[in-house]
Amino acid sequence: MSLHLGDIAPNFTAETTQGTIDFHAWKGDAWAVLFSHPKDFTPVCTTELGMVAKLMPEFQKRGTKVIGLSVDRIASHLTWEKDIAEVTGNAVNFPMIADPERTVSNLYDMIHPNASDTMTVRSVFIIGPDNKVKLTLTYPASTGRNFDEILRVIDGLQLSAKFPVSTPANWAKGGDVIVATSMATSDARAAFPKGVTELKPYLRTTPSPE
Ligand code: BEZ
Repeated sequence: MSLHLGDIAPNFTAETTQGTIDFHAWKGDAWAVLFSHPKDFTPVCTTELGMVAKLMPEFQKRGTKVIGLSVDRIASHLTWEKDIAEVTGNAVNFPMIADPERTVSNLYDMIHPNASDTMTVRSVFIIGPDNKVKLTLTYPASTGRNFDEILRVIDGLQLSAKFPVSTPANWAKGGDVIVATSMATSDARAAFPKGVTELKPYLRTTPSPE
């Protein structure tokens, strides 16, 4: 099943390195990142998992739970995690789903047969407190993901959830934001006391309201 933005992230029960979980119960009303890895004991994946473990305090600051997935079994994940800690200096500090039957992989359309029949692609789903899919990303096996970018998107999503704003190209937390097009400039000036700059009637910016 192909998932679209705004769809409810499907629930599932799965074995993980931290025990059996019901995904929606595990997630609760937090933000969550679900991401897949093609295979255990592979080099790019090793660097990715170490990086996510290192960045865990950043995800926690954003009230975001993280869960990984690969099609290998729990025993394999646990042995691989020792390598990850040794090589990257970061112990994996989030659950890893074991999906040998491809149940979750198929539910989230993580197997792309023209890339591989057996391994998942590098999928990322950001899921909101309402369990709706807020972002999907698909990377090939050969390209490691930039998890600073995932954090940046979470910052943007969380800001847009709180204020009627969107974020411009290459925005970073603290930078100027764009006033929602649905808002009249006069209303925006009242709502954003730091000031509104009208570059075009459809492009008004304001300093970060946070
Ligand atoms: C990796 O380096 O993570 C990788 C290599 C080959 C296939 C899948 C993943």
